[in-house]
Formats: sequence, C-alpha cells, structure tokens
Amino acid sequence: MNRKYRKTVIAGNWKMNMLASEVKPFIEQLKENMPKTRACDVVLCTPAVMIPTMIKAGKECKVAAGGQDVSKYEKGAYTGEVSASQLADIGAKYCIVGHSERRQYHGEDDMLVNAKAKALLAKGISPIICVGESLEQREMDLTMEYVDYQVKAALNGIDATQLRRCIIAYEPIWAIGTGKTATAEQAQEVCEGIRAVIRKIYGARPARAVSILYGGSMNAKNAYELLAQPDIDGGLIGGASLKPVDFATIIAATNQE
Ligand code: PGA
Repeated sequence: MNRKYRKTVIAGNWKMNMLASEVKPFIEQLKENMPKTRACDVVLCTPAVMIPTMIKAGKECKVAAGGQDVSKYEKGAYTGEVSASQLADIGAKYCIVGHSERRQYHGEDDMLVNAKAKALLAKGISPIICVGESLEQREMDLTMEYVDYQVKAALNGIDATQLRRCIIAYEPIWAIGTGKTATAEQAQEVCEGIRAVIRKIYGARPARAVSILYGGSMNAKNAYELLAQPDIDGGLIGGASLKPVDFATIIAATNQE
C-alpha cells in the first residue's frame, strides 16, 4: 500500500452466494469485528438483486455496495442483463468486470471487458477490472506479457480522468478459490508490472494514483503480508468475504503503517 498517493480498497466478491435476508446479520457481525477507524474503503460486490439491501445495511458502517458484472449495452432487448444506469440508479458505486469466472464460463474477451468498463465509467461507477494469468502461462513464463496485454486492452480508449475511477485487480487464475495464494513477492512483482504498463500509457502521476488490488485466496492469515507490499493497494476477496470475522481481519490489516 501507499496511502500517500492512492486509496486502499478492500472489496468482497460474494459471487453467487448468500441471500438478501443474510445481509443485515452479516453486516452486524462485520461491524462488531471491524476496527473503529480504518484506512481503507470497503465494498461488497453482491449479486445485483442484493445491492439495495447491502446499501441500506452498510450505510452506518460505511460499507459500499457493488455489482459483479454489467451489460455493455445502455438499454434494450437484452434479456437477463443489467445495465450500468440501472446499477447507478440503485446506488452501486463499484462493479467488477472481467472476472476470470466470467471470462471462462461466459466467454468474455478483452474487448468486451473494455466495453463494460467504459459503460460503467459513463455512469460514474468504478470498474474493478480483473486480470491474471493461468497456471500454464505462469509456468511458461508468460505472466507479465499476458497481464500487460490484458491491462492495455481493458483500458483502451479510457482517458486519464476516467482512469482515476478505475481499480485494477490482479487475480492469478490458479490462486482463485484454490487456497493457493501467490506469495507476497509474486503478487508484488505483477502489481508493480501493472503499474509500469499504466505509467507507459498515462505517465507517472496517473499511474501512481491507481489502486491495484490482489485477489486469489487472500484470507485473514495472509492479508497482512500481501498488503504490506508497496504496489498492492488492497484485495478482491472471494471465500473469506463470506465470513464476517475473517473479512473484518483483512480490513484491519490495512491499518498497518
Ligand atoms: P477467492 O476469490 O478469494 O475465493 O480466491 C477471489 C475472487 O475470485 O475474486
């Protein structure tokens, strides 16, 4: 983290878990376990149907709500989709785009991820843009090359002013939901690389101001060390964000100097 230049963000990704009726009890437990003062923004990205409940429950302890996906279209005959204006209208402040599960199970490519990020920015929502390599790519030493490409493609046509609203999440696919975390050094190396790519496109100042999160089996035990890295500005947390005590511990880990 480097709080002098950029925001620290702890984002939970509930994926397709939990029920609206479980939101309030979750937030109450989170509140009990969270430090009174904290050095980060907290957001929970829930299934879209739970966003209003999350906003209501999270207000008092400043937990924002986010979506997990968005349509690239503004409106129209796209059955099952949710638009950026609809997310903005109910009060979502963030939305994940390009999560590897969407890329893998729904065939999303970098162009679509870029279009979705732009759709969100147009409505004032911060996209949390996910990038990350497969195990095969890591073993072939292609990590940085691939992640570079993903970052460039996702940010294509986004100007420096809009970049300020963007958050990048580095999530190595092999670490997601597997219990296998990247080491703090591996995660730092790629996050530093991502910042370097952004520097090349936008220059030093905008690059310094972008929050880059790590995601992939971040938990109450490893969060402190990961967050101690200079280019890791927070986390995108799946499994551990479903457990209020663990999620609170991760939030508390941002209070380090
Ligand atoms: P995980 O998920 O923390 O359960 O590995 C992270 C994510 O998919 O964003």
